[in-house]
Amino acid sequence: MTSFKSDTITYKAYAYQNGNYPIEIVDETIKLVKGPGPSDEFVAPPGKILLKINYAALNPVDYKLYHMKPSFLRFYNNKQGFGRDFSGEVLSIGANTSTQVKVGDFVEGIYTPVLDKGSCAQYLLLDPKVSPITTKPSNIDLVQASAWPLVLGTAMQLSKGLQYKDSKVLVLGAGTSVGRYVVQLARIGGAREVVTTNSARAESLIRELGATEQIDYRKHPNFLNPVLESVKTSGEFNYIIDCWGGAQLFPEIDNILVKGGEYRTIVGDTPGHGLGAVFGTIKSALRTIVSKLGLLDYLYQFAFLKNTDNWIDNARDLIEEGKVKIFVDHIYPFEQLKEAVERLVSGKAEGKVILEVAKPEN
Ligand SMILES: NC(=O)c1ccc[n+]([C@@H]2O[C@H](COP(=O)([O-])OP(=O)(O)OC[C@H]3O[C@@H](n4cnc5c(N)ncnc54)[C@H](OP(=O)(O)O)[C@@H]3O)[C@@H](O)[C@H]2O)c1
Repeated sequence: MTSFKSDTITYKAYAYQNGNYPIEIVDETIKLVKGPGPSDEFVAPPGKILLKINYAALNPVDYKLYHMKPSFLRFYNNKQGFGRDFSGEVLSIGANTSTQVKVGDFVEGIYTPVLDKGSCAQYLLLDPKVSPITTKPSNIDLVQASAWPLVLGTAMQLSKGLQYKDSKVLVLGAGTSVGRYVVQLARIGGAREVVTTNSARAESLIRELGATEQIDYRKHPNFLNPVLESVKTSGEFNYIIDCWGGAQLFPEIDNILVKGGEYRTIVGDTPGHGLGAVFGTIKSALRTIVSKLGLLDYLYQFAFLKNTDNWIDNARDLIEEGKVKIFVDHIYPFEQLKEAVERLVSGKAEGKVILEVAKPEN
């Protein structure tokens, strides 16, 4: 076990009060506990893993949380951390910690507590019972390691229990980081047809990942008609997986999905982070309830990434076996979080926007 000579680690991290205040570099601390060895040696507290962070990948949820945090919550936590995805090195593991990772391992994962610290920080102390963590696959570097946990995990959650074999699948927002993995998982699962919405710039890549037909959402801002054309040509869809958000298909949904088919979304009826998005989420939540009551001819689900079972180890294996590709758009130095966030919200990023917290030593 690595031990420290002081009971406090002081480090730099990005934090904010709420969306009315900037996201700034602040001083943060982590408290350690006395180790089992000499009395002047300190280690991670019981049940916790101490990490040195190398890279943090940004996700739209980071920015949504920043904007949606109610003002009064800044009195609860006025140093809320930014970022969920991380890669780095395990420095210390507290007593009685149930984990597969070891001190010295290079790892990646998701820091899940929402009103707490964030991964855009030099150190993190996490509880592996709530924050998924796994060892870095040997075939990728630490930049790529930070780029996949939240988005591949979400794509796996979206695909959970679906029988892709010989199915016809519609992936809305296939160019998003989550969508790129959904297309790959549908292909791996043996889908017969994978129809996607994405812009022309991503056309050849999305085809390579597994799309059999593509609808350019820029040419067809309302893509209901091209989707109905696809139904006319090769039948209804078994599954619709929405990675961008929208409600364009609902007027004709019974003609688009087979009876008993599934519609899963991670965004709801309205993309974005404003008041409209809140109403869109409420509409989707109500549709989920109506679906659960068996009042629809199809199953509808608003899916969230959950830290259940050992999905992160399964995801790690998919990467190590070279079955899925990782996409990195741009790496920004630690001081340039503002620029990194601008890139994230521009909608132009093709893959993950990454913050370099510390270059790996070798
Ligand atoms: N519920 C959950 O647990 C959960 C988890 C993760 C993410 N999410 C949400 O899922 C959404 C996607 O996240 P992400 O990180 O995958 O996104 P992202 O990588 O930031 O998405 C960027 C891509 O979106 C595509 N895009 C832009 N406008 C579009 C439009 N009108 N229609 C379809 N695609 C469009 C563009 O692709 P092309 O132009 O190249 O086609 C662009 O490259 C976000 O709203 C995020 O908050 C939810």
